[in-house]
Amino acid sequence: MADRTSGTAVCPGSYDPVTLGHIDIITRTAEVFDNVIVGVVDQPVRKQKTVFTAEQRVEFIQAEVASLGNVEVKAFHNLLVEFARENGAKTIVKGLRAISDFEYEFEMNQLNRKMAPDIESTYLMAAPQFSFLSSSGVKELAMFGGDLTGLVPAPVASRLQEALER
Ligand code: PNS
Repeated sequence: MADRTSGTAVCPGSYDPVTLGHIDIITRTAEVFDNVIVGVVDQPVRKQKTVFTAEQRVEFIQAEVASLGNVEVKAFHNLLVEFARENGAKTIVKGLRAISDFEYEFEMNQLNRKMAPDIESTYLMAAPQFSFLSSSGVKELAMFGGDLTGLVPAPVASRLQEALER
């Protein structure tokens, strides 16, 4: 059998803002794949306007993954499968928290597969301590002055409080 390496994977998302759950998925992906490209969607997908610009969201993630030698962070505004192709990635990796994530991810999986059968999507189960954690939940806490310790990176927590308390 020919030698195979696990190649390049894309971890896509809105990351508005990145949570410690996202960082856990990115870190675990970086342990399995040779290279990881974190793709930050530079378009409002399903949701209203983002709190942070794509550039800010990229910077927040870069600061957290700087010590991992094989992770790059980039914004993208085209189709996810096109972004994956442009970056030589044959795999998309996403985190799954609860059954509630499944329906949406299943739909995205079918659409992406139809457009690009050569690109496989795979899913990592969220670690139990992050299975309740979402960017939208964090924003709601921040709006009401809730404690974000252990949910998002510390620099993100203060920037989010600033942005949403205004
Ligand atoms: O849950 P998220 O973080 O908002 O997910 C964003 C993303 C891009 C991962 C999700 O919308 C997806 O899987 N989209 C696939 C379809 C596609 O390519 N849409 C255009 C992205 S700009």
